[in-house]
Amino acid sequence: MCGIVGVVSKSKVAHKLIKGLKTLEYRGYDSAGIAILQDGDITILKDKGRIANLEAIINYDSLTGTIGIAHTRWATHGVPSKENAHPHMDQNKHFAVVHNGIIENYLELKDFLENQGFSFSSQTDTEVIPVLMEYYYQKTGNVMDAFKDTLNDLKGSYAILVITPLLPNTILVAKKNSPLVLGIGNNGIYAASDIPAIIEYTKDFYFLQDDEKAVIGDDIVFYDKDFQKTDKESKTIDWEMDAIDKNGFEDYMLKEIHEQPEALKNTLNGIVSLNNPISFVNFSLDKSYLEKLKQIYIVACGTAMHAGLVGKYAIEKICRIPVNVEVASEFRYQDPILDENTLCIFISQSGETADTIAALKLAREKKAKTVAVTNVFESSITREADYTLYTHAGPEIAVASTKAYISQVGLIVALAIYMSEVLDKNTDLCQSLKRDLMNLPDLMNEVISNNQYYQEIAKKMTKEQDLFYIGRGNDYYTALEGSLKLKEISYIHSEAYAAGELKHGPIALIENGTFVVGIVTDPITSEKTLSNLEEVKARGANIILVTNQDIKKDNVIHIPHINSIISPILAIIPLQFIAYFIAKEKGLDVDKPRNLAKSVTVE
Ligand code: G6P
Repeated sequence: MCGIVGVVSKSKVAHKLIKGLKTLEYRGYDSAGIAILQDGDITILKDKGRIANLEAIINYDSLTGTIGIAHTRWATHGVPSKENAHPHMDQNKHFAVVHNGIIENYLELKDFLENQGFSFSSQTDTEVIPVLMEYYYQKTGNVMDAFKDTLNDLKGSYAILVITPLLPNTILVAKKNSPLVLGIGNNGIYAASDIPAIIEYTKDFYFLQDDEKAVIGDDIVFYDKDFQKTDKESKTIDWEMDAIDKNGFEDYMLKEIHEQPEALKNTLNGIVSLNNPISFVNFSLDKSYLEKLKQIYIVACGTAMHAGLVGKYAIEKICRIPVNVEVASEFRYQDPILDENTLCIFISQSGETADTIAALKLAREKKAKTVAVTNVFESSITREADYTLYTHAGPEIAVASTKAYISQVGLIVALAIYMSEVLDKNTDLCQSLKRDLMNLPDLMNEVISNNQYYQEIAKKMTKEQDLFYIGRGNDYYTALEGSLKLKEISYIHSEAYAAGELKHGPIALIENGTFVVGIVTDPITSEKTLSNLEEVKARGANIILVTNQDIKKDNVIHIPHINSIISPILAIIPLQFIAYFIAKEKGLDVDKPRNLAKSVTVE
């Protein structure tokens, strides 16, 4: 969702701000703006739409300021428009603010400020921040006091940067429930909502914790929640620049699909080996705890939830412990039955998804043990969970998740094997699965290498309006993920159905020429799903089959045979390619699909 960049430098910052915003485009946004301090004034430029629209109104030669803040906005309060775009400023032009998050009591604050004679020019919640700062500044005559008093009044979540001519050479920073990192780098001090925006300048980052503040000037001064000065240690993030480059690929999504074997290898490196039991860094579960465990919940959103479904299949098959998989936004309001004998696993690529984090907090209140599975170091979820397991997929930029999904599945299967090893259960199965996991990257490369064939198949489906994906068991979970990929980036409606359920309703929608994608990798259910495919074929459907069985027909995508517990890692790859190629055929922006955000920080 929204993205933030701020720079204090000795040279002009406009280019750096725009460059930073461009690396955050993937988060999803609908307007963009910058504010620069120069000649004792704040200059704000902003516009609706892409960053290109903003750049069109920027005259870099005249923007000579060396301090600035910038923002990409994903509309929540107020339509996408120039007026609602950030930065926002008070009428006296004393304070310019960019903000991620939601000020929940903004209506109450706005009411109060209007009664005090202040006026507003946007429909946003954010605008109360600069106006409140001005109100307190008029009362106290001191910027830092005004900042402190303003933060005291705000309820909700925020990552905030403020610039003011009253404290030139300074950016004021505050964070609560929305990520913010700072870094001292080449020729400047940088602040951003996400590491990629500033990784070009530094690898050492300061991660602000909730309620911490900072003042960036010649150096960074940190303040704790009571506004007392405090020290912070930086942490090194070892990402190379090409991790956030397209590296010769046309789109990030295509690059990330190709990176999947490496992402899985990096995730399981040091965890899975043939001669040793699985072990994790800073995480272990006792045999006595696992023996008492009544149930496991896996809670997540979107693609991460689909990874959770494959996790359920693995844990139940390998450990014989019952697993419920819940969408985080539902779990929160279901009054779930949890206690100390419940293990709750929360999966989130970004580690910032608001519903997943709220669900985690609820599980902790109810005394369940909590484990976060995330791809982003130091993300918010890691601070809430009892334990964190990291996927090492590297930065995922495309909105449609691919390499993070594969890594999440691999990690949860490893967790299932781990629990089974602690319980001394199913030793032979565990050993053979470990071997399979280690062989997977090569098999994935084999599947990826057939991508031209997937492109040919995709071309046949480009004009469709409605598609079906069907499978059973883990193949059904692959169908759900394949269907989601298609919806996200090609805007074609599709439904994923448990193959056996098709005849209880949706089969009525099958007409001559309807495409049905069948996934058949589990030998136990393959005959049944193949029969379901025959049923729709008899009603005129065009079948696309993804299978590891020896079936010779048109439009069959063959993938290597592997244990059905991990077959989704192979079966999803052709479906990712099909969604990608259909979107490309339609001329769509696959990396930044309409209305979607990479990291959903609102509930
Ligand atoms: C958004 C993204 C999806 C992602 C979901 C959960 O909807 O577009 O790709 O699966 O959020 O995100 P998370 O970061 O929690 O995995």
